[in-house]
Amino acid sequence: MIRVNKNYSKLQASYLFSNIAKRVAKFQEENPDRELIKLGIGDVTKPLPSTVIDAFHSGVDDMADENSFKGYGPEQGYAFLREAIAAGDFQSRGCNITAGDVFVSDGAKCDTGNFQELFADDAVIAVPDPVYPVYVDTNVMAGRTGQAENGRYQGIIYLESTEKNGYVPMPSAELKADLVYLCFPNNPTGATATKAQLKSWVDWALENKALILFDAAYVSFIRDEELPHSIFEIEGARKCCVEFRSFSKNAGFTGTRCGYVVLTDECTVYDEEGQPCPLKPLWNRRHTTKFNGTSYPVQKAAAAVYTPEGQKQVRELTDYYLENAKIIREGVAALGYDCVGGDNSPYIWVKSGMDSWEAFDLLLNKAGVVITPGSGFGKCGEGYFRISAFNDREKVIKAMEKIKLALS
Ligand code: MLT
Repeated sequence: MIRVNKNYSKLQASYLFSNIAKRVAKFQEENPDRELIKLGIGDVTKPLPSTVIDAFHSGVDDMADENSFKGYGPEQGYAFLREAIAAGDFQSRGCNITAGDVFVSDGAKCDTGNFQELFADDAVIAVPDPVYPVYVDTNVMAGRTGQAENGRYQGIIYLESTEKNGYVPMPSAELKADLVYLCFPNNPTGATATKAQLKSWVDWALENKALILFDAAYVSFIRDEELPHSIFEIEGARKCCVEFRSFSKNAGFTGTRCGYVVLTDECTVYDEEGQPCPLKPLWNRRHTTKFNGTSYPVQKAAAAVYTPEGQKQVRELTDYYLENAKIIREGVAALGYDCVGGDNSPYIWVKSGMDSWEAFDLLLNKAGVVITPGSGFGKCGEGYFRISAFNDREKVIKAMEKIKLALS
């Protein structure tokens, strides 16, 4: 008899964004003539930059020619992309990251979801609350938690990110966790962490022989030069941190799929006897066993991001979404609501005081605008909703007008 993984029964019926998509589809079916503006899931709307498209096309042409055709590529990614990433995203900021530290993949969602496989079944996990649900759900699937009670799983440590701490939870001496997920600029709150705050986390991890999984998928939206752009800008991080990056939000790859994981040879975890062992060979083993590499044309397209023209075009794209974010933030503030994010991030976290799903239904029904209910990201998200800046300018302006009418 084939039996199911019992841990799946602990999960909520569907993934947050699938749940929202279902509700939206039902609304559209029932209201076929209503215009709907989607500021829910953080999905880009602008096409791939022309430099990226040209490289993508040339990658496809290479596949059509016997002399340049590529079969299986290196699972970790082609050297041309790994080198461009190491130089463009890390060495340029003084971080000693080399091509050998970079593992190219099909996106940060898969990487942040898969990485937990490397750790003991009873590893203690700490996640921020509110949190990108992938970190939690994948640990539930792996059996590291008990049942959910009042929106929280037994066995997980929740690091509350609230107005009180500026939405940046800090480690305390009492925190006993093995694996901590951090995300800055944060999804969903849009909050950013300073170098000093990240240094406290790195020091805590070294002290506790813990590991930090640092999700930097939104780093390209940072405009405040004082803010760290990578965890590897923090002293000691090479030993206890893994960083996750994505081409989705900066270069528009949500449908094209490409991301990468960065970890150094110094990154150390511990075996059953408490003996130190390097983490990189474990990830390499997992990656080469379960993944056959990102497609060659996609990697060519991603590498084009690092050309001077590519950098300019990606900056224009992120500037565009940041201008949307400013419009949203100012619109929300004018309505008298407190919010965070939207300045170094494409997300605006709005303190509405309303039940999150009620706010979702109200804005859907009255304004025809899709947002993401805060409680979908955790208990601390109750009373909040998230607005995404990923859409076309005119739609964002219209959505804010409709939200204003609905809420006033
Ligand atoms: C979000 O809306 O939180 C993101 O788009 C989800 C993702 O990138 O997977």
